[in-house]
Amino acid sequence: MSSTPVLSVAVIGAGPAGLYLTDALLRHEGREVRVDVFDRLPTPFGLLRYGVAPDHLKMKALAKPLAKVVADPRVRFIGNLEIGRDLDVDLLRSKYSAVVHAYGAALDRTLGIPGEDLPGSTSAASFVRWYSGHPDNTTALPDGRAVEAEHAVVVGAGNVAVDVARILIKSAQELHGTDVPDEVLALLHASPITDVHMLIRRGPAQVKFTAKELRELGEIDGVDVLVPSEALELAEADLDAIAEDRMLGRSVDVLREWALREPTGAQRRLHVHFWTSPIAIEGSEAVTGVVVSARSDDGARETTIPAELVVRCVGYRGLALPGVPFDEESGTIPNDHGRVLRDGVPCVGEYAAGWISRGPTGVIGSNKSDAGRVVELMLGDDLPDVEVWDVVAHLHEAGLATVDHDGWLEIDRAEITAGESRGGVRAKLATWDELLAASRG
Ligand SMILES: Cc1cc2nc3c(=O)[nH]c(=O)nc-3n(C[C@H](O)[C@H](O)[C@H](O)COP(=O)(O)OP(=O)(O)OC[C@H]3O[C@@H](n4cnc5c(N)ncnc54)[C@H](O)[C@@H]3O)c2cc1C
Ligand SMILES: NC(=O)c1ccc[n+]([C@@H]2O[C@H](COP(=O)([O-])OP(=O)(O)OC[C@H]3O[C@@H](n4cnc5c(N)ncnc54)[C@H](OP(=O)(O)O)[C@@H]3O)[C@@H](O)[C@H]2O)c1
Repeated sequence: MSSTPVLSVAVIGAGPAGLYLTDALLRHEGREVRVDVFDRLPTPFGLLRYGVAPDHLKMKALAKPLAKVVADPRVRFIGNLEIGRDLDVDLLRSKYSAVVHAYGAALDRTLGIPGEDLPGSTSAASFVRWYSGHPDNTTALPDGRAVEAEHAVVVGAGNVAVDVARILIKSAQELHGTDVPDEVLALLHASPITDVHMLIRRGPAQVKFTAKELRELGEIDGVDVLVPSEALELAEADLDAIAEDRMLGRSVDVLREWALREPTGAQRRLHVHFWTSPIAIEGSEAVTGVVVSARSDDGARETTIPAELVVRCVGYRGLALPGVPFDEESGTIPNDHGRVLRDGVPCVGEYAAGWISRGPTGVIGSNKSDAGRVVELMLGDDLPDVEVWDVVAHLHEAGLATVDHDGWLEIDRAEITAGESRGGVRAKLATWDELLAASRG
């Protein structure tokens, strides 16, 4: 530990935003930098480890360069430490040259309709945690309903809805060779699912998902994709919107191709419903169906789609941390280009990056450019050099058992070793006890 004053930065959150920001700070020449990266989990990488779909191996590989950032000798990873619960933000602000909030947006949005709390109705956040082997997943789908359902409804038209629909309808066979935990694979393998319904509340010209992800959904063996062709008869304004947005145009092209397909009689079907919103979830003890309102030129019509599982994929939401300004409406930390606003005034020395700063949209790469911009701002802010705080000693005295970089490497090694028996594919440790035990070597 250096006693010479340096630019000492605390980063809250070891997800893509926090780690890209750390990387950008380390790359800056001309100033001695130290970064402490805190995470409530004993593992780094945030949603890259626990959100990005397990069958998206190229995306998952982005963890490799980020692992180098965590391993840099100027960085200390301090995992298993929840800021706001275990350590105060105000204390961090008093000990570091700057504090950066990069703690993501882990909560889920609700639909606000009757029946939403019935067993069998769940959020994308829970469902994704379940198939990603997240240690908080114990509350997700406790009754294994996800894999007992023959009919499922997925609400939303974003890439998370596409991921969830794909995992539900894909044969578990195709998920071998990924880090989906064996217990989850076994359950998916036994899944009797036949129909997945995607409910999209607006039209093809308003979808949020992207063509590449959508195309993949239409290429799954043993699945018919059913899109009503009349939904692709677009209004003039929609055609203009598509003409102006190439990405959107590509998604609409995929949908148009799907609408032309003849059903093959496949055992599994993906139904895409446009202009359709859920208005109630039915069932007495568990979900049995979703009442929807479907709009057409003839007006709105109510029907019920039979379903034993409903996954709402309607976006994530940030969480307020004690002592940190928070905008309830947007679920973000109010900020001016990354400088946190306290009582409307930009704070030199306190910054926000990633999903907690701009809301829960954007791909991994968006956080890299975002982080680069925030670092430029920080370096222009004349931040003071300070002596590096002995945070480890402080946490030790407070009786807090954290997981450092060596501890994370032990977890990593344990998962890789356990994966040797499953064809060399990482076997994720999926409980807090297992992770913490492994971190101790
Ligand atoms: C289901 C899903 C799939 C996705 N798939 C893709 C994809 O295939 N490709 C792509 O490019 N993008 C994908 N994305 C988007 C991508 O994951 C995000 O852009 C990115 O993860 C946001 O980074 P972040 O660092 O802001 O947040 P996060 O990744 O959520 O990281 C935040 C970190 O902060 C930690 N934290 C939270 N609270 C605290 C606290 N109080 N104290 C300490 N630490 C805390 C968390 O544990 C977490 O590690 C996906 C998103 C989701 C939800
Ligand atoms: N492979 C990938 O690259 C990948 C994978 C997953 C996620 N991501 C990224 O991660 C980010 C988050 O994705 P996301 O899917 O959670 O969010 P998103 O892209 O914002 O999509 C949310 C969807 O939910 C719909 N919705 C919201 N409230 C609703 C309601 N009450 N009823 C019905 N529908 C409702 C929205 O419709 P409206 O538009 O009508 O509001 C929208 O279609 C995105 O930027 C995404 O691209 C990327």
